[in-house]
Amino acid sequence: MELIIVKDYAALSQRAANLIQAQLTWNPQSVLGLATGSTPVGMYDALVKMYQDKAIDFSQVTTFNLDEYLGLGQDNPQSYYAFMHEHLFKHINVNKEKIHIPNGLSEDIQSECLAYEKSIQLHGGIDLQVLGIGHNGHIGFNEPNVEFEAKTHVVSLDQETIEANKRFFDSIEDVPKKAISMGIKTIMKSKRIVLLASGEGKADIIAKLVKDEISPNVPASVLHLHENVVIIVDEAAASKL
Ligand code: F6R
Repeated sequence: MELIIVKDYAALSQRAANLIQAQLTWNPQSVLGLATGSTPVGMYDALVKMYQDKAIDFSQVTTFNLDEYLGLGQDNPQSYYAFMHEHLFKHINVNKEKIHIPNGLSEDIQSECLAYEKSIQLHGGIDLQVLGIGHNGHIGFNEPNVEFEAKTHVVSLDQETIEANKRFFDSIEDVPKKAISMGIKTIMKSKRIVLLASGEGKADIIAKLVKDEISPNVPASVLHLHENVVIIVDEAAASKL
């Protein structure tokens, strides 16, 4: 596990965007695993800027998002589909047919999960997976007491996660209680993983992740078993290390 500490959120965002740019320079047909939430927004802004400056080309890229809320359709502004289009996809030359986000409105959720997992494998697996981390150590929506062997599946969100995500909704009642998420096994199969964390609010969980043993209580701790993980944190998130 490589730990990179940078000064602030701007530096973290640029550093993460540089990693994606390097990946696409090396292999323009890369399969990228993408995250939502506040943390990667600056990285997406930096990638859009690189695209406008003609410094990156997404035309051959395939993407798979980590998760989607159950019950929210693509046209719901709070869906992760809408989030990704707003922050990244509508600004770049990604082929819309190569974008994959679980369908939160699927009538057969089990088949949706199986098909999502299979599609990732059919594309040769994820080359570079971007992750944020929840205050409780979740990655994707794999909450504490996680099943390390799980593939893409339906998850119930912890109360803490519902609280943390209510900022994106009108009220806490509107936050979906369930989501479809890649499982830990899906994430661990990625060839390379970059986890981002910014701000003092993430300092406790980053200290736990770096110092403590692997435990299902801290889902991200499984990353210690992956041979190609980079953790990029700003000084605030590194302040308890
Ligand atoms: C998002 C995701 C989550 C977030 C995590 C951190 O697709 O899977 O694991 O990465 O909840 O969210 P922020 O970045 O908003 O603190």
